[in-house]
Amino acid sequence: MGVRETARALAEIGLGEVYLLSRTEKRSSEREKSEPRAEDKDTLLRKHFNSFRDCTRCPLHRSRSQVVFGDGNPDSPVVFVGEAPGEEEDTQGKPFVGRAGRYLNQKIQEVLGLRREEVYITNVCKCRPPENRKPTSQEIRACFPYLRRELEIIRPKVICCLGATAGEGILGKTMPITKLRGKVFPYPYNPKIKVFLTYHPAYILRNPKAEGEFLEDLKKLRELIA
Ligand code: URA
Repeated sequence: MGVRETARALAEIGLGEVYLLSRTEKRSSEREKSEPRAEDKDTLLRKHFNSFRDCTRCPLHRSRSQVVFGDGNPDSPVVFVGEAPGEEEDTQGKPFVGRAGRYLNQKIQEVLGLRREEVYITNVCKCRPPENRKPTSQEIRACFPYLRRELEIIRPKVICCLGATAGEGILGKTMPITKLRGKVFPYPYNPKIKVFLTYHPAYILRNPKAEGEFLEDLKKLRELIA
């Protein structure tokens, strides 16, 4: 997508400031431009995770069992970003290990031809909200520096946001997912990285009629990472 086309697409849905941020950040973040070598990514991620395993930046630390870090292949061309850990994730310490995760793995394998271990999966909030409620905007903001650093280390081709909460975390804007799904935006902190949005797999499990659109989006994602 060209610069003008990107700016127009973002302005049309009220994300003009995301585009401006991307232009500013492009100049300001040298670290985000330097490519860590493949074998360094694991070490960098381990160090990064160790730096916030005792995080108390938001109220979610009071109810969590543990911080749930991202998981998977740090050389994956795509990083899937979900909302926040649920009960099983909080217990096992891994993202997307419950029912929604199993469904997601199956569709990634069927449509993208990739096994779960071949991609990288993480969340905008690393701690489970009580009763699995949606994380608040403050919680998303408090956790964002951790996700930002994670993405800076991985530097995928595409960030695939699963649902509106993930979209809010990455683009900094609340927007109905029905308006954003299937669309591509520049990642504000490194415009070379594409942000792609689709439904959250838990939404598809609750609303099977939307599965067709979800699969359409995954096919588009397959082209983006080819
Ligand atoms: N839903 C999410 O958004 N993330 C998980 O890790 C599990 C379920």
